[in-house]
Amino acid sequence: MKAYLLAAMVSAGFLASSLTASAADGSAILQSQCASCHALTQPENTSLDRLWERKGPDLYYAGVKFNKPWLVEWLQDPVRIRPAGEFYRKHIKKGDKGDVVDESTLTVHPKLAQADAEAAADALMALKGPEGLIETGKYDADKKPSPMAKMLFTKLRGCYACHSIGGGKGGLSGSSLETAGDRLQPDFIYSYIKDPQKIDKGIWMPKLKISEQDLQNLTGYIAQLKGKEGK
Ligand code: HEC
Ligand code: HEC
Repeated sequence: MKAYLLAAMVSAGFLASSLTASAADGSAILQSQCASCHALTQPENTSLDRLWERKGPDLYYAGVKFNKPWLVEWLQDPVRIRPAGEFYRKHIKKGDKGDVVDESTLTVHPKLAQADAEAAADALMALKGPEGLIETGKYDADKKPSPMAKMLFTKLRGCYACHSIGGGKGGLSGSSLETAGDRLQPDFIYSYIKDPQKIDKGIWMPKLKISEQDLQNLTGYIAQLKGKEGK
């Protein structure tokens, strides 16, 4: 912001009032523009029907899932993460070589202006979900993932059947992890791989028997994905 403009706003008392206003607005934005599709508090209904009927992923634990800078950017310019939307089976049709996404059934995500995106991101980061949902401090960010980590993902542990890492390959029924390093907190990645149903009841990602070393490697591999893998 230009210095003179800033000075003018401060002297007029605008800055303080607009800051408090936007902090308050974040929750209001979530309630009025987002709650129709996203759970902002933990739902009591944990049935598969709810999972299949929900219009967007749950956000009541957004504060332990996302990196805030990613949220602020994505809310202004939402790029598709789940190639077949939510819920994926409603957006898949038969193609010549197997299932393909029926793009005509997918809608564009609502967009927010910058100030609203920042306020909404702040409000989302305050939603921490229930105590103990995520295991913190288990993932060792200082250890470099082994060169085998990618192979664990694409070949050995079957992750590629459901997840893409860019480049038009990978599965359709899970989220694209192409930019997971920007989008997700490493502790969230670790905890999700370890026990997907603890975080999202009924989700169809298998809970695998997986060694601590492989967990560390898969987390490290996914946490460094920043949209360059498929290029
Ligand atoms: C019409 C339904 C709908 C509305 C309204 C809506 N969303 Fe979404 N949202 C979705 C769907 C569907 C997805 C999944 C998009 C994808 O995977 O590409 C999504 C994804 C997201 C994600 C990424 C989630 C993840 O797990 O990666 C965030 C964050 C988000 N929405 C925030 C918001 C906010 C904030 C608002 C209100 C300003 C909002 N949404 C309004 C349907 C909606
Ligand atoms: C049968 C399909 C399937 C397989 C196999 C699978 N996943 Fe998933 N995974 C999913 C679904 C579905 C989600 C939830 C995505 C969402 O929130 O919509 C998910 C979520 C995740 C998340 C959280 C990402 C996010 O976008 O919120 C990570 C990390 C993850 N999977 C890693 C893995 C790894 C590593 C493997 C292999 C060991 C694996 N997955 C195997 C279906 C699968």
